Amino acid sequence: MSNESITYLVQPGGSLRGSVRVAGDKSISHRAMMLGALAEGITEVTGFLEGADSLATLAAFRAMGVNIEGPNDGRVRIHGVGLRGLKQAHGDLDLGNSGTSMRLMSGLLAGQAFDSRLIGDNSLSRRPMQRVTDPLAKMGARIDASGSGTAPLRVHGGQKLRAIDYAMPMASAQVKSCLLLAGLYAEGRTCVTEPAVTRDHTERMLQAFGYPIERQGGTVCVTGGAQLTATRIDVPADISSAAFFMVGASIAEDAEVVLTHVGVNPTRTGVIDILKLMGADIRLENERVAGGEPVADIRVCAAPLHGIDIPLALVPLAIDEFPAIFVAAACAKGRTVLRGADELRVKESDRIQVMADGLKALGIVAEPTRDGMIIEGGKLGRGLIDSHGDHRIAMAFTMAALRASGPIEILDCANVATSFPDFVTLAEGAGLKMRASEG
Ligand code: S3P
Repeated sequence: MSNESITYLVQPGGSLRGSVRVAGDKSISHRAMMLGALAEGITEVTGFLEGADSLATLAAFRAMGVNIEGPNDGRVRIHGVGLRGLKQAHGDLDLGNSGTSMRLMSGLLAGQAFDSRLIGDNSLSRRPMQRVTDPLAKMGARIDASGSGTAPLRVHGGQKLRAIDYAMPMASAQVKSCLLLAGLYAEGRTCVTEPAVTRDHTERMLQAFGYPIERQGGTVCVTGGAQLTATRIDVPADISSAAFFMVGASIAEDAEVVLTHVGVNPTRTGVIDILKLMGADIRLENERVAGGEPVADIRVCAAPLHGIDIPLALVPLAIDEFPAIFVAAACAKGRTVLRGADELRVKESDRIQVMADGLKALGIVAEPTRDGMIIEGGKLGRGLIDSHGDHRIAMAFTMAALRASGPIEILDCANVATSFPDFVTLAEGAGLKMRASEG
């Protein structure tokens, strides 16, 4: 979202120690805002991610007439307007860098009585939206996109939505969630079947708001016409943000960190399983449930890693963590092979190409493939990395410096603020030697 350019300079020789509470979960923050806005009554949220992505969702609902107090140190009070209570915004809804906001909101806005126009930054304006506009059209929605199926999206209101039974061609929680949100407004029972398990925060949160859903195997169904009832949501720390510290603590000499109050929903813990298969020393402590989501403290100690063939079933469960996992693979002994991850090519950047380029710039043998990467573990050198404005690329290469022989300079890091605004402060506090500068 920010136009100002930020560069990180990370020196080798740092470590990671101590207890760290990383930023609130981005996926859960978006959903808390959306369902809170559409509920009857006041929803109190704690741990809300004050990152640009979830703040874009918050601003969009404010623009549609929802009274939202905060955020104030992660606390937000949302005065829900009910499923039919949103009002037309005066201008475009600018969703910045946030694919989750655009894809989920296109579903719920398709059910409104008014028109909306959704726009985003350059990265978001390149990302595929047909994966949501096609099934929404089958439900009777009218959405205009660019000729190549991208934003801006004009969502025409006043359409009568009908339920569909949809088998998703790709494993995407965003598509599933979009259709479930549209399903709240459709006549009949909307069912979505996923080809592989994806994050289920929408399903859990609909239940927390008292909305009946049916789940069987890989299929989830909602029937339109019920209502959401306000509740309290405690947003745990984001495992996707914790992942950088898990990798950093695994690869840095003598490191030991405890990541506190992290969401460990089994649809998100692929990164733990993959790192453990590589030999990482990761232990879950104080496992508990908070707000319908499993939570734990995660202790990570430095350990020698080795390369693996990443099991296909773990790919959707770690889909946002591959930039960090690639850095772990670069520091591991032997070869790591990832397949079945073509979705990485359509994230905030083409994460296969951008990570391979960056690893090569540091002297690692990394071969991008159509749907993954082959990485030979080796010695990381110094180098200059272009993050392409992708928050997770910037944070992954920050951790790489813990094992590099010289400094790593990372360009275009402003978007770290989309998901992890305190990253530099927390990383420095835990022992990384880094400096962020403007320009
Ligand atoms: C998200 C789902 C994932 C993930 C994204 C957040 C969500 O995207 O990459 O960061 O909150 O539903 P896909 O559903 O496109 O895989």
